[in-house]
Amino acid sequence: MTPSARDEVYMQRCLELARKGLGLTRQNPLVGSVLVYNDRIIGEGYHHEYGGPHAEVIAIRSVADPSLLKKSTLYVNLEPCAHYGKTPPCSLMIKDIGIPRIVIGCEDANPEVSGKGITIIKSGGAEVVTGVLERESRFLNRRFFTFHEKKRPFVILKWAETLDGFIDRNRDECGEASPSWITNHTARMLVHKWRSEEISIMAGTDTVLLDNPELNVREWPGINPVRVVPDKNGRLFEELKIMDDSSPTIIFATGKTISSGKREYIRLPAENFDIPVFLEELYKRNILSVFVEGGAKLIESFIISGLWDETYVFSGNKKFISGVKAPAINSEPIEKFEFRGSGLRIYHNRDL
Ligand SMILES: NC(=O)c1ccc[n+]([C@@H]2O[C@H](COP(=O)([O-])OP(=O)(O)OC[C@H]3O[C@@H](n4cnc5c(N)ncnc54)[C@H](OP(=O)(O)O)[C@@H]3O)[C@@H](O)[C@H]2O)c1
Repeated sequence: MTPSARDEVYMQRCLELARKGLGLTRQNPLVGSVLVYNDRIIGEGYHHEYGGPHAEVIAIRSVADPSLLKKSTLYVNLEPCAHYGKTPPCSLMIKDIGIPRIVIGCEDANPEVSGKGITIIKSGGAEVVTGVLERESRFLNRRFFTFHEKKRPFVILKWAETLDGFIDRNRDECGEASPSWITNHTARMLVHKWRSEEISIMAGTDTVLLDNPELNVREWPGINPVRVVPDKNGRLFEELKIMDDSSPTIIFATGKTISSGKREYIRLPAENFDIPVFLEELYKRNILSVFVEGGAKLIESFIISGLWDETYVFSGNKKFISGVKAPAINSEPIEKFEFRGSGLRIYHNRDL
C-alpha cells in the first residue's frame, strides 16, 4: 500500500521524538516510534541512551490498552532491529504481538539488520510501508549512515573567524598567551552543545600547544567526547590539559605508545599522519563522529582530503588585520544565521 499524508505526519512525530536522544545514544541510531489507532496516537517512545530499550519497545509499553496493538499502526523512522544485541530483536517482538501495519522511514545501514527486520515482520503477515520521509530519516541519522556505509566517522569541521578572515592573531608577534575571543558567549554555549552531540573532538598539535584547551563539555549538559590529537613530532607534554585523564584521549604518535589511564597512544609511521589514516583508526575504535575544532592546518587537511560532511563557521565583528588565515570552503553555505553580532554559516559536503 502507498503511504498517506497522515503517515508523514506520524513519521514527523517519530523524527521529533528520535532527536531527543542526540548525544546520548552514542554509537546507536536516533529512533522514535509512535503507535496509532483510529487516527489517534495511543503510545510513543524514543531510544534514550546507548544500551537502553529501543524506541519501539518503549512505545509499545506505553500503550494503556494493549488489546489495541493488534489493530494499530506502528511508525518508526528506522527499520526495526533483527539481531540479538543488548536487547532482543524489535522486529520479532512486533511480529509476535501481531501489529498489523508497520510504517518505516528508512532501512537500516547496519549489515546485521539491513532488510532483515522488514523480512521478519512481513513473515508474520503484517503490511509494511517503507520510505516515508526517507530523506529526513536518513538525514537525522547521518552520522550512523556515514559510519556504516562509508566506513569512517561522520566529520564536522568548525572554526570562528574575524570579519577580515583570521582565526587568531600571530601569537608570537602579539605576545598574548591565550587566544583572543572572536565570538560571543552564546556562540560558545552552542559549541559546547555541539561537542556534547559527537563521539570525539579533534584539534591540531599547534592549537593544543598554543591554547591548552580542555576539549570537553562545560557550558552545556552532556557527555565529554573522546579527545583526539596528532603528535607526529612528540611535541605534546604531560602538563597540558588534554593529558589530565578527565576524559578519554587518543594521541596519534610516531614513537611513544604506552597507553595508560584514559589515554591511548596510536602509533603510526610518520608518512601515515594523514586524515584517511586518522579516520580509519577512529572507525576501528567504533567512533561514529568527530568534531574538528581547528586549527587552520588540520582543518585544511580535512578539506583537501574531501573527508568531511558538515562545516560550521562563526564570524565575529572584530578585525585582526593580520594573523592565522581562516580555512576556506569552495562552495556556498546551505544556511546562514545572524545572532547577537555573530554570524553562522553551515556548509554540507556533496549530497549529505
Ligand atoms: N578561531 C578558531 O576557531 C580557532 C580554533 C582552533 C585554533 N585556532 C588557532 O589556530 C592556531 C593554530 O592553528 P595552526 O593551523 O597553526 O595549527 P593546527 O592546525 O592546530 O596544528 C597543525 C599541526 O598539527 C600537526 N598535524 C599532524 N598531522 C596533521 C595533518 N594531517 N594535517 C595538519 N596538521 C597535522 C602538525 O604538527 P607537526 O608539525 O608537529 O606534525 C601541524 O603543524 C592557533 O593560533 C589557535 O589559537 C583558532
